[in-house]
Amino acid sequence: MSIEPRPYQTVAIVGAGSVGATLAYAALVRGAARRVVLYDVNRAKVTAEAADIGHGTEFMHQATIEGSDDIEICRNADIVVFTAGAKQDPGQSRMELAAKTVGLVQKVMPTLVDIAPDAVHMMVTNPVDVVTYAAQKVTGLPTHQIFGSGTVLDSSRLRYQISRECGVAVQNVHAYVLGEHGDSEVPIWSSASIGGVPLLEWLGPDGRPLFTDSVRERIGYDTVHAAYEIIEGKGATNYAVGLAVTRIIEAVLRNEHRVLPVSTLVNDDLLGIRDVCLSMPTIVDARGAVERLGIPMSSFELQRLHASAVALREAARSLGF
Ligand code: 2OP
Repeated sequence: MSIEPRPYQTVAIVGAGSVGATLAYAALVRGAARRVVLYDVNRAKVTAEAADIGHGTEFMHQATIEGSDDIEICRNADIVVFTAGAKQDPGQSRMELAAKTVGLVQKVMPTLVDIAPDAVHMMVTNPVDVVTYAAQKVTGLPTHQIFGSGTVLDSSRLRYQISRECGVAVQNVHAYVLGEHGDSEVPIWSSASIGGVPLLEWLGPDGRPLFTDSVRERIGYDTVHAAYEIIEGKGATNYAVGLAVTRIIEAVLRNEHRVLPVSTLVNDDLLGIRDVCLSMPTIVDARGAVERLGIPMSSFELQRLHASAVALREAARSLGF
């Protein structure tokens, strides 16, 4: 199957908060897009962020950035990334932001789809799975065309920690966090591997398996709680999410057919999960999130994935979806 990459590479970012602005910066520095447009209702903020990043374009790949408080700036973008929404305070869970952010999605998404009907729409705002579900229902877009950044960031946090534990480059670690991007997320240990060696068979310096129950428990806990700790320390997370979302943007704009754990609407009888958005390894290309993979899981992991789906379904229902 071959689809030509899109000729114009405009990334529209909705929201010029710390995630939106850092994403714009990361996307330009990595050369993921030639044109980034930033939209925010706060005119002074969006103008200042665009100017600050724009002043560095001499040191980037060929790039332009514009900022505006007029949503029209997003017209005909190739990919629209939604980062606007309520800010997570220290100690607050992502789920506690749901009502406020979903209200914003209901208000803004119809216009975004109207002015960028052929774009791939990616939701980043938390709680991203519930927000993605609401956005899909509100817009009626085909499910591949609208998806959430999901657990791409959580998976990179997990891989980072595994890499530090075993001393192998993070790029050679294959491991997913699936389900909710949040408290009920599930690290999938059973199919994780390091340089082709199953993670559960990886030996430590003493010749015994390195990833014991207690090591996996510690890493799993640290992965799930990473954002809480960062928010406690600096008020927000922005750098790693900026890079993770840039990686997804690249998969779309370069038509990469890359497998990424993004959040999509799941209706899967085999998996036993229906009518909920959550992350599973999914092929991402110029059309969006096109095909979910069925990866092997232990029965315990599958059980936890089901619990994650139930939590997300209930959260959506409580908001009237
Ligand atoms: C993160 O995981 C808070 O969802 C944000 O960094």
